[in-house]
Amino acid sequence: MARLDQMAALSERPGEITRLYLSHEHKQASQLVADWMRDAGMEVEVDAVANVVGRVAGTSKGARTLLIGSHIDTVRDAGRFDGCLGVVMAIEAIAELHRLGRHLPFSVEVIAFGDEEGVRFPRTLTGSHAIAGGLEADTLDVKDTSGTTLADALRAFGCDPAKAFDIARRPGDILAYVETHIEQGPVLEAENLAVGVVTAISGASRFLVDVKGKAGHSGTLPMAMRRDALTAAAEMVLAIEEIGRTTNGLVATVGQITASPGAINVVPGQVTFSLDVRSPVDRTRRAGLQEVDRRLRAIARRRQVSVRMNEFYNEKAVACDQRLIRQLTSAAEDLDVATIGLPSGAGHDGLAISRLCPVGMLFVRCKGGVSHHPDESVKADDVETATRVLIAFLERVAPTGRSLS
Ligand code: GLV
Ligand code: MN
Ligand code: MN
Repeated sequence: MARLDQMAALSERPGEITRLYLSHEHKQASQLVADWMRDAGMEVEVDAVANVVGRVAGTSKGARTLLIGSHIDTVRDAGRFDGCLGVVMAIEAIAELHRLGRHLPFSVEVIAFGDEEGVRFPRTLTGSHAIAGGLEADTLDVKDTSGTTLADALRAFGCDPAKAFDIARRPGDILAYVETHIEQGPVLEAENLAVGVVTAISGASRFLVDVKGKAGHSGTLPMAMRRDALTAAAEMVLAIEEIGRTTNGLVATVGQITASPGAINVVPGQVTFSLDVRSPVDRTRRAGLQEVDRRLRAIARRRQVSVRMNEFYNEKAVACDQRLIRQLTSAAEDLDVATIGLPSGAGHDGLAISRLCPVGMLFVRCKGGVSHHPDESVKADDVETATRVLIAFLERVAPTGRSLS
């Protein structure tokens, strides 16, 4: 918990936690994590896209590698557990085995991913996509809002972007990816359980939606003659909310909006807003998006503005590996820790890693289901319980069989 406090202090602005991909604070966090990994007996490397990777070699000859970890970037004004908890727990699990002098037959890499939240660039899961071999060709060229390309930001961080496409792992070398994370939802608290085993991770689509009308003088342009992009966007935002509300298993969110030219006495001529649509069922997400498209076009037609939905992120839902689900569950049972299976509404690096290997996740109960907010809170006891389950998983559930042989 003290380590999580240390991480929380690394922020773009004092008094809150904001740590975006490849920022100065991310660099500080990566150095701190690297130190902890070394203390836990790992060899450490920061790879070409700023993943911090700590490695312990397995005792078997030609041992394959189990990946564990989570992310160290945050949303703006974040809580202190989303991501960091899973990194700190993974390091602690390896440190405990190191202290006990236990050696695992398979190699383990603890990875602190740098871009799970996708807040800085119009790209998400850059670190995990690079490792899984799923990086899109134009990734290095995307720009943040100040015009810095991802390649330049990587260089400033001390990475070599030319190697970004070379760090993909070979599927045959990797056993699985297992992540621990706060639940970010209310289910475990309601069930009075410290931990849960994730069954699936929701798929997500993200867009920037451009609405173009015509700017004009707020004093002279009659109301009936306006093509106001912001009032059109307001109607669109409400339509999106209604589609989310009325579709079972779908959530739809507009989290950012900008209006131009952005003056008190000018009718807005141009608006851009973000759209994030998720569902554990890909069919539901696709149908929801079709409905969003239909409604936005209808609003645009009626208000004589144009609308364009620019998709920049599309991840299919991922089912967690049945074997890993069983193994995590039995690791908990061995310790007399009760669990349930539950899906994740939030996105995780496992979405990207699933193209490389089986994925499993363990959730830790959080207070009130609150996340992406400074009030995010977990109990130290639950963190200890979850860390013990992770250690039991690593130690007792020796990977064997098809997916983990
Ligand atoms: C990350 O937390 C996301 O689900 O957007
Ligand atoms: Mn997260
Ligand atoms: Mn998050």
